[in-house]
Amino acid sequence: MFTSNLRAGLSLFILSAASLAQASLQIVPGATWTAANTGGRHIQAHGAGIIKVGATYYMIGEDKTNGSAFQNINCYSSTNLVEWTYVGALLSQTSSGDLGPDRVVERPKVLYNASTKKYVLYMHIDNSNYSEAKVGVASGASVCGTYTYLGSWSPLGQQSRDIGLFQDDDGSAYLLSEDRAYGLRINALTADYLNVTKTTYLWSDHIEAPAILKQNGYYFMFGSHLTGWDPNDNVYSYSTSLAGPWSAWSTFATVGSNTYSSQTNYILPLNSTSAVYMGDRWVSANLMRSTYVWLPMKLSGTTITMANYVNWVPDISAGTWTVGPSETWPEAEDTSSASLANGAVVVSCSGCSGGKAVGYIGGSSHGSVTFNSISSSAATRSTIRVKYTNGDSSQRIASVTVNGVSQSLAFLPTEDGQTPGSSTLHCNLNSGNTNTIIITTTDGSWGPDVDRLMVPTS
Ligand SMILES: *[C@@H]1O[C@H](CO)[C@@H](O)[C@H](O)[C@H]1NC(C)=O
Ligand SMILES: *[C@@H]1O[C@H](CO)[C@@H](O)[C@H](O)[C@H]1NC(C)=O
Ligand SMILES: *[C@@H]1O[C@H](CO)[C@@H](O)[C@H](O)[C@H]1NC(C)=O
Ligand SMILES: *[C@@H]1O[C@H](CO)[C@@H](O)[C@H](O)[C@H]1NC(C)=O
Ligand SMILES: *[C@@H]1O[C@H](CO)[C@@H](O)[C@H](O)[C@H]1NC(C)=O
Repeated sequence: MFTSNLRAGLSLFILSAASLAQASLQIVPGATWTAANTGGRHIQAHGAGIIKVGATYYMIGEDKTNGSAFQNINCYSSTNLVEWTYVGALLSQTSSGDLGPDRVVERPKVLYNASTKKYVLYMHIDNSNYSEAKVGVASGASVCGTYTYLGSWSPLGQQSRDIGLFQDDDGSAYLLSEDRAYGLRINALTADYLNVTKTTYLWSDHIEAPAILKQNGYYFMFGSHLTGWDPNDNVYSYSTSLAGPWSAWSTFATVGSNTYSSQTNYILPLNSTSAVYMGDRWVSANLMRSTYVWLPMKLSGTTITMANYVNWVPDISAGTWTVGPSETWPEAEDTSSASLANGAVVVSCSGCSGGKAVGYIGGSSHGSVTFNSISSSAATRSTIRVKYTNGDSSQRIASVTVNGVSQSLAFLPTEDGQTPGSSTLHCNLNSGNTNTIIITTTDGSWGPDVDRLMVPTS
């Protein structure tokens, strides 16, 4: 009686809260994703894995700030999969050894062993020419704390390059390992997860970037073909048993799209018919500006399909997702929507809407663009896409103030300085048409050239 009354009361509360503010925080594949607690820098968690502890997601991946050689394995946290906060590094470069200068440490993945109460981190360990092909393991007492590196080896005497981890419902865990000589392996881990016991399955096909999703009684193995940093049409195979038989490989994204220019790193279940594909869009010439391509996948029996979206809205608590909201697109150079000050001026930009953008934002005079009268039909936390260009080879960082609240926002280098990219701005909008957004810099550096904003209307 008490329970059902309480439940009825709770759902009433949730309904009314939802009608007040339907947050439309978006995942924007391929955009600059600024992390909190970094001074406004793009997330450095490439080749990442996700682990959920309580209500918090942890994204653990490679720091590519200074290129391909190992720097850190970084950890970021989020409760909604959209807004990420830098927490710390699990492992950092040491003066020598596996984690020393000019080493390769890739595709970190973490599992929790409930019995030993230890988080176990696996990663690909190599030298700069990839001739060692080993796996390394580390363990830690807290998911996003520092880990103790335990060493590297050739699992079962075999080569191991790209890796993934999979923990089954019964607590058994597996290392997914690309063995260049023989193919792709599923290797069973020891009970404490710190070593490998045997190969459970071997595909002779050459597939890397492995990740397993278990759903509706099926195991789905995802991976890519071997084309270096360049993307290809990634594939999946399914089975009711890890030991096989496994189906032939099939594509899941639009054929010829090269998986929307990305490579699998992790698959996160959302509900019984949906999962989140997490991939890397590598920029091999400047790895720090590689972006994250996360898209919803649809499961129907053993068929998995994935469409491409500019933006989409996950609802973690409901286990669902929706397409991006409708938007207004105020132009930075349009005097009816924005005003310029302190030296900011309209510049030409061949790939920008209307062929124009606003440049000279920041600098010693603190040039600024102020978008006035931005409209939203709801008081809500939302994601605005800032369309911009940055012709430099490093990210620019601007100060963005929304209704009086300032934050530092990153703007990764764009393709050619003339084709705009997107940076995601998560902020609180007021209901009505009085929202104000100011973009400038406070430290004398240059901000991006701003083309326009893409603002959710609700
Ligand atoms: C990148 O290199 C710069 C210059 O050497 C250094 O100050 C910085 O700490 C490095 N960053 C990382 C993440 O290693
Ligand atoms: C690869 O690099 C290591 C040093 O890290 C060197 O000892 C080895 O000879 C190199 N191997 C090849 C095939 O170039
Ligand atoms: C964790 O390690 C213990 C001790 O080796 C083992 O018995 C257990 O099966 C492992 N798995 C889980 C999920 O705790
Ligand atoms: C795993 O087992 C292999 C073979 O017994 C051994 O060489 C290696 O050191 C072990 N790795 C760890 C981290 O204990
Ligand atoms: C899973 O999410 C999708 C997308 O939001 C939704 O259409 C579907 O109904 C959900 N399925 C279940 C079983 O909740």
